[in-house]
Amino acid sequence: MRAQKNPRASGLSVKLGAAIFILFLAFLTAVGVRGVSVQEPAVPAAQKPAAPEARVQTKDSPATKPEPPAQPIPYSHKKHLALGLKCQQCHINPEPGDRMTFPATSKCMACHVTISRDKPPIQKLAEFAKSNQPIPWVRVYVLSSWVYWNHRSHLEAKMTCEMCHGQVEEMEVMTKVSNVTSMAGCIDCHRKNDASTGCQYCHADK
Ligand code: HEC
Ligand code: HEC
Ligand code: HEC
Ligand code: HEC
Ligand code: HEC
Repeated sequence: MRAQKNPRASGLSVKLGAAIFILFLAFLTAVGVRGVSVQEPAVPAAQKPAAPEARVQTKDSPATKPEPPAQPIPYSHKKHLALGLKCQQCHINPEPGDRMTFPATSKCMACHVTISRDKPPIQKLAEFAKSNQPIPWVRVYVLSSWVYWNHRSHLEAKMTCEMCHGQVEEMEVMTKVSNVTSMAGCIDCHRKNDASTGCQYCHADK
């Protein structure tokens, strides 16, 4: 209280106040400029994962999950897994281990030369088999190609299909049920499992 009545002290505090204000302006300007160049990549990187899904939701369906894409043949995981088939009978993991791949049409035809051969989807299947064309399945989980990814190292680290792709044996139609193709989806699990979250881990040499 006393200090305010002292003219020298208050003059000093005015100067100090002005100096602090100018510093503050300089700080704001610096932050404003940096906000464009430095901060931007960091913030959208963390937030981006939600964006594509939110877009799909509002465009394609008001529901909580994005609509599954239409497939050339109405293949049902639920029906086929109920027959006792295992994931890796159809999704092999060839060298170098990044992809799980889709089954060769001949694998389907092993059963469908006889089973349901008069049904339209199986006739379409047989046409693909005859023409030696791979079935043009529409991808459900798509990772940006510049992110380093390998299935095998995750399977070796005891991560299961279900952790990233959900209850596939319940799916009549394959649907994206996790955010595993987003940076947040990768990082959340890496944190929980003490796997690295260093940028170079996923963004190196690509
Ligand atoms: C009889 C063969 C077969 C078996 C067994 C099978 N799948 Fe599939 N899977 C397919 C075919 C065909 C597609 C492509 C059509 C579709 O998306 O439904 C597919 C697609 C997928 C996809 C979507 C990939 C993408 O990005 O488009 C995932 C994930 C998947 N399967 C996981 C599994 C898991 C997990 C299991 C075991 C629980 C399993 N599959 C068992 C044949 C099989
Ligand atoms: C740690 C998470 C994770 C696990 C575990 C995992 N996947 Fe995937 N899967 C992904 C991601 C991410 C993609 C998208 C990859 C891309 O686009 O390059 C993918 C893509 C696929 C595809 C599409 C074809 C391909 O290989 O790109 C199939 C099929 C598939 N997964 C099946 C499986 C099966 C079967 C298992 C268990 C044996 C499994 N996945 C385990 C994350 C996982
Ligand atoms: C182990 C044998 C077996 C294999 C391998 C197999 N299927 Fe099937 N599939 C069946 C059986 C059995 C049914 C009938 C299931 C039912 O109706 O409950 C069926 C039903 C179907 C149907 C539904 C037909 C209809 O309209 O009634 C389609 C489509 C189909 N399978 C596609 C495929 C495709 C694509 C593949 C390869 C990725 C495949 N199947 C591999 C045994 C098999
Ligand atoms: C379900 C949990 C889980 C998810 C989801 C996941 N990871 Fe991993 N990841 C792991 C674990 C566990 C390891 C092994 C860590 C170790 O061995 O120290 C690992 C290891 C890795 C490695 C080092 C091994 C290698 O392949 O070179 C890379 C790179 C990697 N993850 C990238 C990704 C990317 C990219 C995504 C998202 C598309 C992702 N991970 C999603 C659990 C996960
Ligand atoms: C475990 C894997 C993983 C790690 C670790 C990781 N990222 Fe990513 N990052 C991803 C994936 C996956 C995407 C692709 C997301 C997409 O396509 O929407 C991505 C996307 C990005 C993008 C692009 C965002 C955009 O706007 O398209 C930037 C920038 C980025 N990461 C920066 C970083 C930085 C900086 C770090 C270290 C702090 C880091 N990432 C660590 C997996 C990872």
